[in-house]
Amino acid sequence: MNHIDASQRLSTAEVARLAGVHKDTLLRWLRAGLVREPHRDRHGWRYFTPAEAQAVVNFAQSSTEATQPLVLVAGEPLTPYLGKLAAIDWDFADAKTSYLTHGIHPYPAKFIPQIPNALIQELSSVGDTVADIFCGSGTTLVEALTLKRHAVGIDANPLACLISKSKTTVISESEALDLLALAQRARTLGDSLLPTGEDDLFPAPRFVSTAWRPAFDKLDFWFEPPVIEELAEALAWCREFAGELARNLALTAFSAIVVAVSKQDSDTRYVRRDKNIPTGETLRRFARSLEQATRAAVEFSQLVEPRFRCEVIAANLLDLPEIPRLDLVVCSPPYPNAYSYHLYHMTRMVWLGMDQPKFKRDEIGSHRKYSSNSRNGATAQTFKAEFARILRWLAGSLKPSGYACFVVGDSTLKGQRIHNADLISEAGQAAGFVEAMRIDRTMQASKKAFNPTIGKIKTENILILENRGGRT
Ligand SMILES: C[S@@+](CC[C@H](N)C(=O)[O-])C[C@H]1O[C@@H](n2cnc3c(N)ncnc32)[C@H](O)[C@@H]1O
Repeated sequence: MNHIDASQRLSTAEVARLAGVHKDTLLRWLRAGLVREPHRDRHGWRYFTPAEAQAVVNFAQSSTEATQPLVLVAGEPLTPYLGKLAAIDWDFADAKTSYLTHGIHPYPAKFIPQIPNALIQELSSVGDTVADIFCGSGTTLVEALTLKRHAVGIDANPLACLISKSKTTVISESEALDLLALAQRARTLGDSLLPTGEDDLFPAPRFVSTAWRPAFDKLDFWFEPPVIEELAEALAWCREFAGELARNLALTAFSAIVVAVSKQDSDTRYVRRDKNIPTGETLRRFARSLEQATRAAVEFSQLVEPRFRCEVIAANLLDLPEIPRLDLVVCSPPYPNAYSYHLYHMTRMVWLGMDQPKFKRDEIGSHRKYSSNSRNGATAQTFKAEFARILRWLAGSLKPSGYACFVVGDSTLKGQRIHNADLISEAGQAAGFVEAMRIDRTMQASKKAFNPTIGKIKTENILILENRGGRT
């Protein structure tokens, strides 16, 4: 091992070299809290004192994870790497989860970025194509791009596709300035609005949205009249952006506040509750959301190299869409009877003019299809058959011996516990996959992947299937 000079200040890359690991591995250890964060210089760059560097070297020498370098060779079974994956603490109990663009839009049951980050690092190489076939809000895609992989995301929910595109957008400085100017415009107008009654005395500000409202007969049921006016105004401004990237980001920032200013109780509770949102507050919230999204997008844009591409495909997987050849899949699939994204996102989709009824028909696992009084009568076998179809399709696009990772919990159907990892694994066998590994992880209470009224599940599985079929 190299000697560390007591007067040195070392960069992350230098310390990684001394520790004998890749820089990305050291960054993951830092994110996961496995080694302590070092100092930062006035530009925000990390630097390590000799003592801090020595601590990393010591950790690298003591950790099983660090002492077993992983070299993936196509065609070899996963077994040699099991020790490496098993050594990771998958609970990531104190890890930060909303860095970069991860926090710009809420999304029920999104997984923590540390999970796809670790799987991508261990099971793929720089330049590979990593897909999330149920990409939701794009967590895997963000991690893949920052780890220098190409990314492919698929989702049947058009809102998921919008968020995923925005979170992986590389924007220019002029686009960022335009977005921040819009945020300022929204704040200024929000601050100038007066509560109903007082506005009789003063001329009302001119709204560009005039009489446009989304075609939705329950608009007044879910929104207060001033909130409707302010949302319509903010949306009209977002649509004025000629460039698609900036427009998507503005629309995502808009969508991020819709549930909070509506009467919908929360992102995962579709019941009505009065919130008494003050006049002007909707525009002020939009301003904050847009500023946050823009800053995050700028930070992401500085980090990601443009040569790594991201493709987001809006499609129902059961329609077996065309996709590129993949090296790795990392996803958290929908679970039977757990979530109803078409319901939780209803008001957002209505405002954004998205085809919510189509997504309602396409959505796998929704509570509507699996609840005991459902006319659809879906069962665990329905879910397994859907996965058999999806995995047969996937086997044709995932490289031979490539891995497909599913972060999945159990669910409760008609009082019975359903082990979804078993169902997916069995469906995989019929499609030419073998189960290579299964890891249990504990979820933090606030990050439960299940609606607590349906099933209080606190653990989930990371199921890793290896493609033994497929095209060569
Ligand atoms: C658990 S979420 C994924 C969350 C994602 N891992 C994240 O971090 O944001 C499951 C996703 O599956 C999508 N989905 C459900 N049915 C689908 C279908 N038939 N085809 C494609 N996607 C579907 C849902 O829209 C939802 O976004």
